[in-house]
Amino acid sequence: MIPWREAWQHALYGPGGFYRRPEGPAGHFTTATHGSLGPAFAEGVAALAAREGVCRVVDLACGRGELLAHLRRLGVDLELTGVDVVDRPASLPADVHWLRSPGGPDLPDELADLDDTLIVANEWLDVIPCTIAQVDDEGVGRVVLVDATTGEESLGDPIPEDDARWVAQWWPSAVAGERVEIGSTRDRAFAELVSRVRSGVVLAIDYGHTRAQRPTEGTLAAYREGVPTLPVPDGSCDLTVHVALDSLGADELTTQRDALRDVGLVAAPVPHDLASRDPSAYLEALARRSAVGALTDPRGLGGFGWALTRRGQGAVPRRAPRHTADSGA
Ligand SMILES: C[S@@+](CC[C@H](N)C(=O)[O-])C[C@H]1O[C@@H](n2cnc3c(N)ncnc32)[C@H](O)[C@@H]1O
Repeated sequence: MIPWREAWQHALYGPGGFYRRPEGPAGHFTTATHGSLGPAFAEGVAALAAREGVCRVVDLACGRGELLAHLRRLGVDLELTGVDVVDRPASLPADVHWLRSPGGPDLPDELADLDDTLIVANEWLDVIPCTIAQVDDEGVGRVVLVDATTGEESLGDPIPEDDARWVAQWWPSAVAGERVEIGSTRDRAFAELVSRVRSGVVLAIDYGHTRAQRPTEGTLAAYREGVPTLPVPDGSCDLTVHVALDSLGADELTTQRDALRDVGLVAAPVPHDLASRDPSAYLEALARRSAVGALTDPRGLGGFGWALTRRGQGAVPRRAPRHTADSGA
């Protein structure tokens, strides 16, 4: 048996790893960039880019570039780059740049010295492998080990000192049986991503928790072809753990609901008479309204955290937000 973090890294990003498969994430689950949600989400990202005054968007962990294709369709004047662990998908608009990345916490060397750039990382941090620990009967936090072919678990050594420091600060736990998903790999990865930007904004969007509402039973989950499945690190399924959002050290932490409203993405009512005047515009407006509703639903995607850090050039938004978000994620 080996630590979950090691098995997980190999299962998702090793040779033949789950995220190297041709179908990409959209073959297994839905995110804000997929299907009918994608165009409205892209509108929100474009509005954020305008507010921050950037001229390029890098979509880090972009799947097969779904968000970038939607941004291009919007006709916004932004240089676009996608980064993921596979070669450039042939279906991407010709002027979208592409970088191939190692995967997990590691980033490509070419992603460096970025100016006037918004980096968006939607659902990246939750697929960065982290150490999973469990408190034993004596109250000691131990590394959880896993059999990579069956998913069977056992408890290994006490967690190493640097992880223990993270736990003491962010997720103290001494109750036997409790799981702690140690966020230090995500914190370091987020800091590394921020360090690649000279001026601009880094935005990580994910499901997660803050100290006030940590889970106690662990959030490790797996998906395959749209169905939740047993987490086995054999390369056959996605593996994901919620993100400790507050330990990332971002400048701002808010909910997707508040953040999208801040940039002006609202589900405006659709006038009924549009149905007879312009039926296809009516249907389009209804679809957009329903997408914005889903993206901002506090019980779903609207409850996702937006962790945002600005770099350089005064590190303040160049245009004032329409109103101030009032809740943490
Ligand atoms: C949950 S999917 C999200 C995909 C996309 N952002 C979306 O919202 O639809 C996670 C993606 O992160 C990618 N990924 C993980 N680590 C990465 C890294 N270090 N660099 C680039 N992509 C990475 C995976 O290959 C996968 O496509």
